[in-house]
Amino acid sequence: MSKNASVDKDHAVLLPQDEMPTHWYNILADLPEQLAPPLDPRTLKPMSPEPLLRLFAKDVVMQEVSTERFIKIPDEVYDAYLRLPRPTPLIRAGRLEKFLNTPAEIYYKCEYVNPTGSHKPNTAIAQAYYNMVQGNKRLVTETGAGQWGSALAMAAALFGLKCDVYMVRASYDQKPGRRTMMQAMGANVVASPSKSTQFGRGILESDPNNTGSLGIAISEAIEDCLAHEDTRYCLGSVLNHVLLHQTIIGLEAKKQLSSIDVVPDVICGCIGGGSNFAGFAYPFMADKLKGKSATKFVACEPKAVPSTTRGVYTYDFGDTAEMTPLLKMYTVGHKYQPPPIHAGGLRYHGKAPSLCYLINKGYVSSVAYSQNEVFEAARILAQTEGMITAPETAHNVKYAIDEALRCKKTGEKKIIAFNNCGHGLLDLQAYDAFMNGLLEDYEPSNIEVPKLAP
Ligand SMILES: Cc1ncc(COP(=O)(O)O)c(C=O)c1O
Repeated sequence: MSKNASVDKDHAVLLPQDEMPTHWYNILADLPEQLAPPLDPRTLKPMSPEPLLRLFAKDVVMQEVSTERFIKIPDEVYDAYLRLPRPTPLIRAGRLEKFLNTPAEIYYKCEYVNPTGSHKPNTAIAQAYYNMVQGNKRLVTETGAGQWGSALAMAAALFGLKCDVYMVRASYDQKPGRRTMMQAMGANVVASPSKSTQFGRGILESDPNNTGSLGIAISEAIEDCLAHEDTRYCLGSVLNHVLLHQTIIGLEAKKQLSSIDVVPDVICGCIGGGSNFAGFAYPFMADKLKGKSATKFVACEPKAVPSTTRGVYTYDFGDTAEMTPLLKMYTVGHKYQPPPIHAGGLRYHGKAPSLCYLINKGYVSSVAYSQNEVFEAARILAQTEGMITAPETAHNVKYAIDEALRCKKTGEKKIIAFNNCGHGLLDLQAYDAFMNGLLEDYEPSNIEVPKLAP
């Protein structure tokens, strides 16, 4: 047992600040083969990173293509992490275990403890910092549930940058508190599809009540970025550099679990674009890729947007307006209109290419749930652990509970670990709808994904 870690295995493991990891972990160094490259949609040839420099900060583009195993966290970012604060606690969910009457042990990492309430600041801070260093003045982005937008609004405020957020209309209407939070931190927030861009205006002309999607909001943010020289775009998930920044979660969790001599049998997380799952899981996956671990990895998604459980593993655009490179990923198609489920952060048609590769090769399995069953799991968590989790996170809480109940049947003492990646304190309207029996479950009857590249 580490001399510094808080020692009681039955409560919380608090890693001291001077033990916070100093480097992010890059899984691209350890994958058995190179990932299929992003393609230029016009030529269908691998795309060079240069065009990305107009969109993203230079350091972020370098990280996107880097295969260096460990990348140093800059001092200013490290300092901002410490103030979030990090390291975040790892909690043993003893009351949940008792309620389920399971021999399994359940642990969760508390990524909701920072001011904006999710894992998203881990990359927002890094992206804002790199833009500030480069002299860019304004950041533009999309947001689904508003967690990513709030994180970037906060990070922009910390580094003295302007911030504009295209917020998916379904969430803009469902979560006014998130909008207010971003505005209070100085960001300008518009509902997407919006009248601010040509693409948004086009959608509204043919469908004035369009509820939006992350794919549409990404297209609007990119169009805005390209129209303003002082502006760079920031993405909250999917790309390699975002997943890289999130690995601070799993690197801490690994230290915390090893300090109490615990090795997880099962690691689960929800997937919107894949960043919180990857951030938590990849440092553990490093051992599995080297044949040193038997841990099972499970990614959880909504039945309403079943990218990895019913989608196709193929090249697709990252956005609806077809402005991004083609990425090889599991997708339900970039024109798919996700139903207005409350887990706004999971309403994305594709998933991170590295995660999709790991799913395709069998290193990660995936499951899908409908929103009433995940809110039931969230209610159990609230009434045992006293924690209101985000609707997105509720997906992996559902898996953790089901796995613990399977252990109850078999008598197995599995160690289950999940990333509690957000709180739901600005999602109470969704809890209210659930408790009043007003939540609808959605499932597409048919999924069609056009083949865009060989
Ligand atoms: C709390 C929370 N969890 C999960 C997600 C999904 O994103 P990702 O898969 O990148 O973690 C979001 C996205 O907004 C979120 O806010």
